[in-house]
Amino acid sequence: MITGLLTALCVLPSLITAGPLAKRDFPPAGACSGYCQGDLHDPSVVYDGQGTYYRFTTDHKITISTAPSIAGPWTNQGSALPDGSMIDLPGNMDLWAPDVFNYNGIYYMYYSVSTIGSQNSDIGVATSPSMAVGTWTDHGSIGIPSNNASWNRIDPNLFQHDANAPFYLSFGSFWANIWQVPMQNPPLRVAGEAVHLEQNLTPPAPDEGSYQFWYPVNGVQYYYLFFSNGICCNTPSSPGGLPSAADAYKVKVCRSTSPTGGFVDQNGVDCLQSGGTVIYASSAANDVYAPGGQGVFYDPGQDSIVMYYHYVKPSVGYEYNQFQFGWNKLDFSSGWPVVVA
Ligand SMILES: *[C@@H]1O[C@H](CO)[C@@H](O)[C@H](O)[C@H]1NC(C)=O
Repeated sequence: MITGLLTALCVLPSLITAGPLAKRDFPPAGACSGYCQGDLHDPSVVYDGQGTYYRFTTDHKITISTAPSIAGPWTNQGSALPDGSMIDLPGNMDLWAPDVFNYNGIYYMYYSVSTIGSQNSDIGVATSPSMAVGTWTDHGSIGIPSNNASWNRIDPNLFQHDANAPFYLSFGSFWANIWQVPMQNPPLRVAGEAVHLEQNLTPPAPDEGSYQFWYPVNGVQYYYLFFSNGICCNTPSSPGGLPSAADAYKVKVCRSTSPTGGFVDQNGVDCLQSGGTVIYASSAANDVYAPGGQGVFYDPGQDSIVMYYHYVKPSVGYEYNQFQFGWNKLDFSSGWPVVVA
């Protein structure tokens, strides 16, 4: 994807109209101190409003880390759900891809129960009054129907435009990619039928890890659907080896004026027809490889919208427990998010 973008830049300079296409390379990840390297996949970060950032990551029954800023120093506090999930499926002691949301002073943590490459999966939810270790109560499955071959019930993300708006939960990984269900209030259970948000029509359709965020552009509310595309976690000794930067994990985005459909990319391509604009991908010059598993929030410490994610530093290594926590500011001034240093 990077090669294609750079080629287009050289051949068609007259088409360059806005910031995103003018970039020659993706910037380095923001500084991080403390617990920034390890089993740090699929982060979810929430600011508690009182000076502490909470970061939730895949494995160890959802590791909770805390820091005084997005840049750290991060401290590992322990597991959110030390007894695993009450969902009765393989993988219920190895929870993935947490997503934490504050509604009315209660924190809702959505998580995935699955095993690698399996559609025998489910999404559960736990709640806490504070996010701290020892305060999480599991409520089990949110109730997305299981009998649908088009989706895999992992990689949840809860979205609400504002405190009075309806709740939507997007999910999905491979197969027919990203789906969305409406959620009840409080958001513990699904409230209706799933709708289809995004699909990659090229097998094996490696799109997953969606995250929704809204931003007003010239008075128009836009809904942005971020997702991860490509191969996330190969090492040089994996079958097939290390994918090229073009095939490795990267972050794409689509947008719509509705939170429930109509997503297109920056070229106007329908995101149910393989659309998606790459906003962050591998940069050999900046020691970044295969970034993804992203989330987006307004960070009061940076006074900016920030995207956080996991990535590999080739100078360190590609092993599962060598993943890095990364973050960057996002510039929405063009109407499309641009990752900045
Ligand atoms: C999967 O769910 C979608 C949305 O509810 C529906 O349109 C489709 O028919 C379902 N497919 C199967 C096989 O149940």
